[in-house]
Amino acid sequence: MFDPIRNNASNIAPPAHVREAESLRVTRATADEVLFRVYPWADFVPAKALGSRIWDTTGKDYVDLAGGVAVLSLGHCHPALVAALTAQAHKAWHLSNYMVNEPAMRLAKKLVDATFADRVFLCNSGTEANEGALKTARKWASTHYGDKKHRIISTTSSFHGRTWLAVSVGGSPKYTKGMGPVPEGITHIPYNDVDALKAVMDDDVACIIIEPMQGEGGMYPGTPAFLAAARELCNKHNALLIFDEIQSGVGRTGALYSYMQKGVTPDILTSAKGIGGGFPIGCFMATEAVASAMVPGTHGTTYGGNPLGAAVAETVIDIVNNKAFLDRVLVSEQRMRDGFAAINKRHNVFADVRGEGLWLGCELVAKYDNRAGEFMKAGHRHNVVFLTAGNNNILRFAPALNITDAEIDEGLARTEKAIAEVVNAA
Ligand SMILES: Cc1ncc(COP(=O)(O)O)c(C=O)c1O
Repeated sequence: MFDPIRNNASNIAPPAHVREAESLRVTRATADEVLFRVYPWADFVPAKALGSRIWDTTGKDYVDLAGGVAVLSLGHCHPALVAALTAQAHKAWHLSNYMVNEPAMRLAKKLVDATFADRVFLCNSGTEANEGALKTARKWASTHYGDKKHRIISTTSSFHGRTWLAVSVGGSPKYTKGMGPVPEGITHIPYNDVDALKAVMDDDVACIIIEPMQGEGGMYPGTPAFLAAARELCNKHNALLIFDEIQSGVGRTGALYSYMQKGVTPDILTSAKGIGGGFPIGCFMATEAVASAMVPGTHGTTYGGNPLGAAVAETVIDIVNNKAFLDRVLVSEQRMRDGFAAINKRHNVFADVRGEGLWLGCELVAKYDNRAGEFMKAGHRHNVVFLTAGNNNILRFAPALNITDAEIDEGLARTEKAIAEVVNAA
């Protein structure tokens, strides 16, 4: 007979198939055999990670200056997040959208209190957040002005995720190659080009979508003039301004959201990555005037707003949305910049260092064009993890926002060894 107490008890022996799974031996080669080969996996397999450090299956340790691609806002396995997740795991994992849950409401309330937004839609990833934001913009435009007002303006080199709409709106043709035809009504203009933006605007535009700083595309901060012009043009043509803060948000640039530093407020903001600190969750938020276009039945998701993700994310927001914490991000940024300047003095590899907060890109001098991946791999040999960006010409750093000075110093010392290896081999 079914006994809910006994069947929920942690001392039940795992069923045979679970024991079998635990004993299945996998190595790095297994990935090449059984997973889709769409990622440039490192040669090592991480087994454990804590704070800004990763250990692989052989016990070798790495300083993590990549932060899971700007995701691990509080580093790996932060005790407060582990506690929030495990406490919620013992209460309720999934309830469905037929029932609201307390962590989801608390998270939304905290976001509404902290930002321009009046309403939040919780989902599972950045791509899904952008998809929902763009749908919301088109629905809002159609509701108030008719279907003709459907155009989406985006920027070249932008990255907005990997669904069909997201790659179509994103500004890298390589991500839609062989997958056309793409959805209609999307226009791309060069990032930070005010005149180009003015030239494509008309009353049929539903929205402009912009990353306040382009990450994947090359670590280019949005200029105040460009972001302000986007706001003005949206006001003039009754269009919505969407800021994709999936990478720039949740403390990454030293503010809770980077729009707060730029003096330009969007109508819709998308957030993911850092908000879950490693747990998959995303959201888009909007003013009441915009959100009210999304009436029952216009959007939904099975897992969005699930209590596990929401419990983790509300804890992340509690910790990050604190002046001392955010100020510390800027102090660490300076330490990283000083470190890069010192490395460059000795090796002459960076043409430019740019970015905001703990989100920095070191553009390689022309000699190393298209070779950022080699530096990244050398990093692995010297026990440090960082990323690339742009046209494989930028070393990208997005460490945990709470990385310590000692971890920065050690990470950069290891980065310098990796750089020296590539430079000396040339
Ligand atoms: C600016 C931006 N938008 C959207 C996305 C997509 O987010 P996700 O991978 O969670 O779907 C990313 C991911 O790198 C991003 O950097």
